Amino acid sequence: MASPSKFRSNGADPAGESALIRIEHLHKTYHMGDNHVHALRGVSLEIARGSFVAIMGASGSGKSTLMNIVGCLDKPSSGKYYLDGVDVGALDRDELADIRNKKVGFVFQQFNLLARTSALENVELPLLYSDSDKSTFKERAMEALTAVGLAERYDHHPSQLSGGQQQRVAIARSLINNPQLILADEPTGALDSKTSVEIMGIFQRLNREKGISIVVVTHEPDIAHYSDRIIQFKDGHIIVDEPVANPRNAERELAEWPEEVEEKEPVA
Ligand SMILES: Nc1ncnc2c1ncn2[C@@H]1O[C@H](COP(=O)(O)OP(=O)(O)O)[C@@H](O)[C@H]1O
Ligand SMILES: [Mg+2]
Repeated sequence: MASPSKFRSNGADPAGESALIRIEHLHKTYHMGDNHVHALRGVSLEIARGSFVAIMGASGSGKSTLMNIVGCLDKPSSGKYYLDGVDVGALDRDELADIRNKKVGFVFQQFNLLARTSALENVELPLLYSDSDKSTFKERAMEALTAVGLAERYDHHPSQLSGGQQQRVAIARSLINNPQLILADEPTGALDSKTSVEIMGIFQRLNREKGISIVVVTHEPDIAHYSDRIIQFKDGHIIVDEPVANPRNAERELAEWPEEVEEKEPVA
């Protein structure tokens, strides 16, 4: 009889250790007094290295809860989570912070930049919590800003940047520790459509050129179709998990974007 080919078809090892993310029967229950909120109700999932995955689902379906666990910000109530082969549930607080800083970058809907600080300093920020050599900070931050096409704005403060530019600073910040994984929770939720495509283009480039795995939560089907796989949540369960047959190509779409929808420059 043929053995299950799930892990073997691509030449990977049979135990599934090649998966960057492996989640088994994950539950998360929030306790608030006598009230128990079952945010995740038995989620099993594998995400291979180098994937680009979109997560969809109604508000309250458990998407952010999953992202917090995958990003090692929180631990499951029960079930297993392996990140890069490490059993995350078995880690203590310091170890959790360590694996998070080394392997994961975060991008949020509202950018979460420090207002009174330059783009460069915002990007350097995660390095303050690492044991890296301080003399390299500026160079590394400039490199990350260059990767998102924003090097020339390094000394601008967030208020001097458009929403799309602020989100690019946030992506640069997520890149600063060379993560294997970027988790983006509604990264285009506060942006207009062309700017959203630009942001998805940056994620596509980081995914294809640097091999960084990307997981994006979005409400918008259009945005989800820049990924290679769409996972849909409902009431703490996965109800759909499908490959995207023909992912959209942001770079190509931007090259053909109609002239009249130009991005507005912010008032300095
Ligand atoms: N820190 C928390 N404490 C209590 N309940 C929470 C907490 N975070 C999320 N929830 C609840 O868990 C459920 C899933 O929330 P969430 O993961 O934020 O969903 P989504 O991101 O899909 O909107 C919701 O019912 C929400 O109210
Ligand atoms: Mg959410």
